[in-house]
Amino acid sequence: MNPFVFHTPTRVYFGETSAASCGDFIHDLGGSRVLLVSDAYLEKSGMLNPIIESITTATGNPPLLFTDVPSDSDIAVVNRASAMARANKCDALVAVGGGSVIDTAKVVNICLTFGGELMEYQGLNIIDRPLLPLIAVPTTAGTGAEVSFVAMVKDHEEGKKLMFGSPYLAPNMAVLDPLLIVSLPAKLTAATGIDAVTHGIECFVASGTNSVFTDALCLEALRLLFEFLPQATADGNNLEARGATLAASCMAGVAFTNSGVGITHALAHALGAKYGTHHGMTNGVLLTHGMNFNLQATAGQYARIARFLYFSSSGDDLEQAQILVDKVEGLLKELKLPRTLRELGIPELTADNLKELVDMAGSDPAIMFNPKEASEDDLLQILKGAY
Ligand SMILES: NC(=O)c1ccc[n+]([C@@H]2O[C@H](COP(=O)([O-])OP(=O)(O)OC[C@H]3O[C@@H](n4cnc5c(N)ncnc54)[C@H](O)[C@@H]3O)[C@@H](O)[C@H]2O)c1
Ligand SMILES: [Fe+2]
Repeated sequence: MNPFVFHTPTRVYFGETSAASCGDFIHDLGGSRVLLVSDAYLEKSGMLNPIIESITTATGNPPLLFTDVPSDSDIAVVNRASAMARANKCDALVAVGGGSVIDTAKVVNICLTFGGELMEYQGLNIIDRPLLPLIAVPTTAGTGAEVSFVAMVKDHEEGKKLMFGSPYLAPNMAVLDPLLIVSLPAKLTAATGIDAVTHGIECFVASGTNSVFTDALCLEALRLLFEFLPQATADGNNLEARGATLAASCMAGVAFTNSGVGITHALAHALGAKYGTHHGMTNGVLLTHGMNFNLQATAGQYARIARFLYFSSSGDDLEQAQILVDKVEGLLKELKLPRTLRELGIPELTADNLKELVDMAGSDPAIMFNPKEASEDDLLQILKGAY
């Protein structure tokens, strides 16, 4: 077996109503003046109330609320939240929301801990010491941001996403409460779930520090997602399905943050940065294109996934790998997700647009872990094929 390092600093707490214990959890981590980061919809829905109550009871102080995080969060939002938190001497953070909220809280945490110029901390492993305590409570089941070492926020002026990556960015605790996902509409359930499916598939073949640990997490996450994502999408009140997809997306998050993702994510990051498309939905459009690009190089690993999921037990690796691609295609159709970049609302791609997207994807950190090298022309052909 090849040498590997596997690291997961986040304590995971799973259970219905577990979010109402956030106060005790953040108090145990030393927090007394808590910044609660969320979004306007979640505040209005009343979902934050038990969390606010528990923080107030446990710490003796009501949390400072920042619920102004948009779906496409950016540096300006981070700066506003940080200024508020600094003025109120916040010493801990609780993030309740989707990937956008959790990533925003992670970047705010960098500002609060280090002060100074945020851009100095951009990139991989620049942050080299612990940040303030952070608890992440995901309200979507997909990104894995509640356990991952990365955070991405937009720089709208430059039209690109900024990436911060360090194990110190991983929240101290992830609180997985299936009740908080019930209100997620079908389309977003499907789109966020496909992000987790993409993490599982890309991570399983990624060229990062791949290990039997991440293999096991990817396989079980994919088993849960193929079984329960259609159910959670069809019936949002199905708590068993909601819980399974929430656990699966967290497992896939632990896996990809250790072993990386690949070409589908690199292209989805570029398109998301340029056109503001939803991350999971964009991955959904690109996933089978990315898989087909990698097919010859990864047939053995795709075939292993196909056998684990009981999709296929006969035929050679390439045939079984093709069956996995077909099953992914079938899942995307069942979930009624957009199948082309055009359906995603992206305008006709001019030569200049294509060049810009290829440049962004080619320099995205995710591409480093793709199992097969991709040339500019390869990226271009995938984009054209997906349009
Ligand atoms: N840090 C990481 O490891 C990582 C990984 C993948 C993606 N991301 C980032 O995550 C972001 C995408 O996150 P996302 O897919 O969770 O979507 P999101 O956070 O952008 O949320 C999408 C929408 O869902 C709504 N929503 C969230 N929870 C809800 C609920 N329970 N009920 C009803 N509505 C709800 C939000 O209000 C928002 O309008 C992107 O910015 C992407 O870059 C981060
Ligand atoms: Fe993702």
